[in-house]
Amino acid sequence: MRDSPGGPAPVAWPGRRTVLTLALGVGVGLPLARLGGAQDSSARGARPQPNDRFVLAAGERKGRLITLADLPSGGAPLTAYPKDATSGVVRDDSRLNQILLVRLDPRALDRDTSARAVDGIVAYSAVCTHTGCDAWDWQPASSTVKCPCHFSEFDLKASARVLNGPASRRLPALPVKVADGLPVVAGAFIGRPGFESGGG
Ligand code: FES
Repeated sequence: MRDSPGGPAPVAWPGRRTVLTLALGVGVGLPLARLGGAQDSSARGARPQPNDRFVLAAGERKGRLITLADLPSGGAPLTAYPKDATSGVVRDDSRLNQILLVRLDPRALDRDTSARAVDGIVAYSAVCTHTGCDAWDWQPASSTVKCPCHFSEFDLKASARVLNGPASRRLPALPVKVADGLPVVAGAFIGRPGFESGGG
């Protein structure tokens, strides 16, 4: 902005036509904005969709896109949320959208797990099927995760079947593939994410 020689330039009052246009713009824009908000809200709560990217679910780098380099073989699982590749909406409106993403030795995967994996990368619901905890202890030697709440243990090499503990149901698996050099969702959850009491 540039001032006039005698001080700040006067602000011109908009003409009648401009005011009318602005009023119409506001009138039309509000419902559209509300519609956009509703669409965002339903996109945020939707379960992972094919071609969704993965972003970090927590920590200092929360929201950052997860790349193949973030998933070294045998490294600890990352907790992610899916992100719509087109709209950029992160589907973080449901805790049940949290995903465990990890790269295992492809030779160690059973047949069903291998069919849903890419380069050893597998994905599962990050919410324990017992009563819904979402923190995990990683056991790299066995490629299993243990829930610290009541010690259910799931085998990530074998469709996250329950090895020990009170959980009666495996972690739902999420098929993955690589697109544009990134790990992405290849299909819907196999099984219902949630838990035994109040998890939907
Ligand atoms: S909530 Fe995971 S074992 Fe109970």
